[in-house]
Amino acid sequence: MDLQKRPWIAAATVALVATFAYGSAAHAQVTFASSQSDADVTYAADVATIIQNNCQVCHRAGGIGPMELVTYEDVRLYAPLIKIKVVNRIMPPYYYDTDIGIQELKHDWRLSQEDINTIAAWVDQGAPLGNPDDMPPPVELRATDEWSLAADFGPPDILAPSTPIDVPASGLDLWHRPVVKMVGVPDGERCIKALQVKPRGKAVTVVHHANSTFQRLQDDGSFRGTGDRATEYAMGKLGEIIPEGVCRVLPADTYIRWDIHMYPGGLGKTAVNDVIEANVVDLAIWLHPADYEYEYKQDLVSYNFMEGKRDLLIPPNGSLMTQGFRSWDHPVRIDSFQPHGHLRLRSASLEIYYPKTRRTEIISMVSNWSATWHQSHIYEDHVAPLIPTGAMLIMKQWFDNTSGNPNNPDPDQWVDYGSRTADEMSHFWLGVTHLDEEGYERLVAEREAAEEEQRIATRN
Ligand code: HEC
Repeated sequence: MDLQKRPWIAAATVALVATFAYGSAAHAQVTFASSQSDADVTYAADVATIIQNNCQVCHRAGGIGPMELVTYEDVRLYAPLIKIKVVNRIMPPYYYDTDIGIQELKHDWRLSQEDINTIAAWVDQGAPLGNPDDMPPPVELRATDEWSLAADFGPPDILAPSTPIDVPASGLDLWHRPVVKMVGVPDGERCIKALQVKPRGKAVTVVHHANSTFQRLQDDGSFRGTGDRATEYAMGKLGEIIPEGVCRVLPADTYIRWDIHMYPGGLGKTAVNDVIEANVVDLAIWLHPADYEYEYKQDLVSYNFMEGKRDLLIPPNGSLMTQGFRSWDHPVRIDSFQPHGHLRLRSASLEIYYPKTRRTEIISMVSNWSATWHQSHIYEDHVAPLIPTGAMLIMKQWFDNTSGNPNNPDPDQWVDYGSRTADEMSHFWLGVTHLDEEGYERLVAEREAAEEEQRIATRN
């Protein structure tokens, strides 16, 4: 997402303007303006570009946002609400704390503080249009039914739509687990570059999650899992991008088993509350070429906090904290982090404990988690945490079953472990590259060398 630097922020001078109320010195007022040129913030010159680059992908005709933010008139109508959502970092919907842990993430939708300040200043000034000549040309957005990751990787190599199923307007949770043939599968085993899952059309608000695993056809006509997961999707998630140089395996001759969880009527502000006929969830896979070279395997695994015991129980009007630990007998690199929970989950953190130094480091924190916006937070390659053998991941989640939780449908219920949206779960999806000691040492040395280079460059 583009940033636009405006001189009025950089050059902010504190101006002291004294105004005297008419007729009476006793009512003298002193007004502090944060910047002499604040008045210059206009839609055309300052705000339009931010809205184009960060909001219109969803807030346009056919987009998933509840209203359009395309013309000045659209945006002006919602200006006060936009300020609230943007200043509180609720929009764009990417929830990841800005002041703790690793901040360099791929496909990060967060606005810069500078853009947030620009929008807030514009709204405070009455949301003026400014000079229409300053207006940037309209942006060309991809069609709403196109794959978002096609912008990075081109058209997908493989498609695997689920079989259609009708979802009623209301009622209990539904699950759909068809096995389907993939279209475009090459011969032999290959390495996956990226994956994206997308419920078709209006189904976005009724599909809570859609997991996919690879299956092989047996001689007796049944299917058996290969042990490899294709991907995981949960509401609001963009997709998975596998780092360069490693392999997430696409086994040869496989089918996809879908595990789709639907919530009739839908969840969130844009819930359809209507019958959805022939709901289909699509999976797209981008592959590396057959001669792609790699050293290590990468996988996506759900690390459950409850170690299979599933003894999660939240009292009415109460809260609960869960904690899970994980270590490996070889070094690993954590490539992505995605907390999973339902309507009572409010926050999650990922920490590393290093036995050698006996210190803990927070690497990611989401303190405003929402079940309508699952994201796989994908670390930039040069900062993805490298975990030495024996170091421990500490995974924490906090559940709020009080009326203070805006997502809570009923604070008077006991909440148990389970798959329904009204139940809770406690796990993280982690993309993990499995290294060996030599590879770990090499990556650490490469990063240290890059840091040293940076130090020298900034010194000169
Ligand atoms: C990925 C899609 C997406 C992006 C990007 C996005 N929005 Fe939204 N927005 C939504 C959805 C969906 C909702 C409905 C509430 C929800 O589901 O969280 C929403 C809700 C809102 C609301 C509240 C509407 C209401 O009636 O309560 C405002 C205001 C808003 N968005 C403004 C923005 C602005 C401003 C930006 C860019 C800075 C933005 N959004 C970026 C999808 C998006």
